[in-house]
Amino acid sequence: MSDELKIYAPDPAVAAQARVSGMAAYEALCKEAETDYEGFWAKRARELITWKTPFTKVLDESEAPFFKWFSDGTLNASYNCLDRNIERGLGDKTALIFEADGGEVTKVSYSELLARTCRIANALRAQGVKKGDRVVIYIAMSIDGVAAMQACARIGAIHSVVFGGFSAQSLRDRIEDTGAKLVITADEQVRGGKHLPLKAIVDEALALDGCGAIEKVLVVKRTGGAVTMKEGRDLWMADAVAGLPDSCEPEWVEAEHPLFLLYTSGSTGKPKGVQHSTGGYLLHAALTTSWTFDLREDDVFWCTADIGWVTGHSYITYGPLALGGTEIVFEGVPTYPDAGRFWKMIQDHKVSIFYTAPTAIRSLIKAAEANDAVHPKSYDLSSLRILGSVGEPINPAAWEWYHQHVGGGRCPIVDTFWQTETGGHMITPLPGATPLVPGSCTLPFPGIQAAVVDETGKDVPWGQGGILVVKRPWPSMIRNIWGDPERFKKSYYPADFQGKYYLAGDGAIRDPKTGYFTITGRIDDVLNVSGHRMGTMEIESALVSCTELVAEAAVVGRPDDTTGEAICAFVVLKRPRPTGDEAKAIAKQLRDHVGKEIGPIAKPKDIRFGDNLPKTRSGKIMRRLLRSIAKGEAITQDTSTLENPAILDQLAQNN
Ligand code: WTA
Repeated sequence: MSDELKIYAPDPAVAAQARVSGMAAYEALCKEAETDYEGFWAKRARELITWKTPFTKVLDESEAPFFKWFSDGTLNASYNCLDRNIERGLGDKTALIFEADGGEVTKVSYSELLARTCRIANALRAQGVKKGDRVVIYIAMSIDGVAAMQACARIGAIHSVVFGGFSAQSLRDRIEDTGAKLVITADEQVRGGKHLPLKAIVDEALALDGCGAIEKVLVVKRTGGAVTMKEGRDLWMADAVAGLPDSCEPEWVEAEHPLFLLYTSGSTGKPKGVQHSTGGYLLHAALTTSWTFDLREDDVFWCTADIGWVTGHSYITYGPLALGGTEIVFEGVPTYPDAGRFWKMIQDHKVSIFYTAPTAIRSLIKAAEANDAVHPKSYDLSSLRILGSVGEPINPAAWEWYHQHVGGGRCPIVDTFWQTETGGHMITPLPGATPLVPGSCTLPFPGIQAAVVDETGKDVPWGQGGILVVKRPWPSMIRNIWGDPERFKKSYYPADFQGKYYLAGDGAIRDPKTGYFTITGRIDDVLNVSGHRMGTMEIESALVSCTELVAEAAVVGRPDDTTGEAICAFVVLKRPRPTGDEAKAIAKQLRDHVGKEIGPIAKPKDIRFGDNLPKTRSGKIMRRLLRSIAKGEAITQDTSTLENPAILDQLAQNN
């Protein structure tokens, strides 16, 4: 395997000035962490974070697996991201360059962002929000979105951002689970030239059961589109902040105080509220921004993720701001007004570090190959120095294209493997050190003890696939599943490994010669569609909740050239199996239903109808057979335990 590997050594110009320069420097950091694990992290926590009360304890394992870091230290995340930069003379430096869907650009300096954050923080306090209260943020990419998150952090409120593409039902589930008091939203959002509702969806969610704790809704005016304001509950943000000062004393919180909850999919139907800490999380967001992206004073950083996902938390709201960086916040979509939008924005804003998802790259390759005008070669991308990839495996062909056509063959690509639960990068190249191999996320970030083990927790030899684990707790790890500590233990510290190792939920294999990691995909029932994480059970529940039509449903993933994985649903209806136009019409109805239950991102690409599903005699659905059918593969597996083998032909034929 290694013999065929194409290896790209770090560009000498990048390496010469990188914070971690050369493999010897990388190895020295790994060694430092091995020799004195707590000392390694404590050193960075003192260098990168400004503490109100310095910590004296580093790692506390007394209640493992509920680990604590820096627990007697106090700090404030928003102070670290804003005030501190102003105190060191960066007040007039541009913090955010906001580009709206239609192309209008608004820049805010650190001083302006602080003032905006403080006004929102004061408004939250005026509405009765206190330390520890939960605030749900349901808003599109915007300066106010970032400021709202920072405002929560400023007063010690716990934010939970819900991606603007989620439906009222999903929003309701999250509001209920967090027990939030207040929602921050906007009238509408603008994507690809279209106005889409936000406030109306909040209204719909709040009308459902379970949102009783919500007292107030603050509404940012984005489009001026018509909305209904409920007397006593809803307030325009402009009115809520009117007359309030633009300074606000930060709430100094303990390092372990939850900074945010972010919901993500697991292998059961109910999304889990991943709880992150303030101190450890902020440290890793800042440290990875510093080492993985090598962010500097004069860089223009652009992470294209939405603040509704963890990537937007760590690499928009927290990491780059903690370092005093300048970054782009983009409201729109990569294909509007055309598929050259990313390249044009890199050119216009002289972006130097660009971080996006393989799905975006793959769809832009298709567009560029069809039309020179939207090909990166038609733009001046010479400002770029580092490229990044996140969210799903990047296939070598897409990697090569990204490297050659976007990075001009000069820019290293950091393929960063991590998860909502890990808070920041876990396995990733460092741009001035790690030789790159397309399709591999290379080696663990210094200090991260990633390993590949078998079912009993024993290390497997390099070259052999296994289960990805992390052997030691690290500062930015998930602290709990909100309100469900038992599920936390079961999901991440299962008894299989004597509760000792963090279970990532992915499979991995290490190259036999270099030890480089390649992620082989989820080992649980979680799908990754366009870099969005979704549970098969969540989608099945959504389908089955269409009670007038659906008797039974099973959802599997199949490989897709553009989206990485595609959702494929096998459905048994309460009426005879439809064919032809009727099947098409019902499939559309079901897709819309899933869109309403979860959000458009969860709509199955394929829906196949059967009289039944392949089941064992004990009634268990044989998903591995469905996976083969979804892929269009011949079934070679053993089907002797199948109750109803004839169903396989029916499902395979019926598209
Ligand atoms: C997958 C996104 C391969 C993986 C930050 C993980 C990746 C899940 C990569 C987490 C990568 C993320 N290479 N696979 N570079 N990055 N994944 O929680 O399956 O939305 O478990 O966090 O995405 O998705 P999540």
